[in-house]
Amino acid sequence: MERGLFITFEGADGCGKTTQLMLLAKTLKAKGYDVVVTREPGAKGLGEKIREILLNYDGEVSSQAEAFLFLADRAQHIDIIVNPAVEKGKIVLCDRHTDSTVAYQGYGRGLDINQINTLNSLATGGKKPDLTFVFDIDVETSMKRVGANKDRMESAGMEFFNRVRNGYLEIAKQEPNRVKVLDATQSIEDIHIQLIKLINQLR
Ligand code: TYD
Repeated sequence: MERGLFITFEGADGCGKTTQLMLLAKTLKAKGYDVVVTREPGAKGLGEKIREILLNYDGEVSSQAEAFLFLADRAQHIDIIVNPAVEKGKIVLCDRHTDSTVAYQGYGRGLDINQINTLNSLATGGKKPDLTFVFDIDVETSMKRVGANKDRMESAGMEFFNRVRNGYLEIAKQEPNRVKVLDATQSIEDIHIQLIKLINQLR
């Protein structure tokens, strides 16, 4: 049995990562791989309850509390869904993970990046994804794609999303082996081909 893989999809809201994740899942399944599609926040069970608070709660939420909610969801998700699947040799494709907290709560909201890194490794037991795709896009285009119907996170404004974008690029600079940046303004098919090539380099 080939070893399992844990691959994460990252980028600002509206970058197209979910479309790419679904397409990749289809291609890998067609090749006979056992694929698990999942997401943070809110894969299933407890995570869905946490997601509901994070995206729809309309009262005040402190940046710290927000970070801990994402981290609680992550701890549950890694233990209950991701690790067991990877141990069984499956390919886990996950829509957002630790880098979202660094980019959004760290670079975006301004929480201390070192502290977030420490909390992230507490939540994951120190295990990092085998590969991470960052879908890079200018903020104007991504906000146009999101449209008028924004959730609590998406309503944070242009400056916030510029910081998030720069945060992702900084993460990629620091971990070039794990984190691959893709130009998200390319066609769906062109991006898909690049993802397949990057995965093939892993195996
Ligand atoms: P979601 O609807 O899943 O957005 P998307 O389709 O863009 O992934 O909402 C998740 C939101 O939560 C998104 O705005 C990013 C944000 N987020 C954080 O701020 N920190 C985190 O650690 C995670 C996982 C997500």
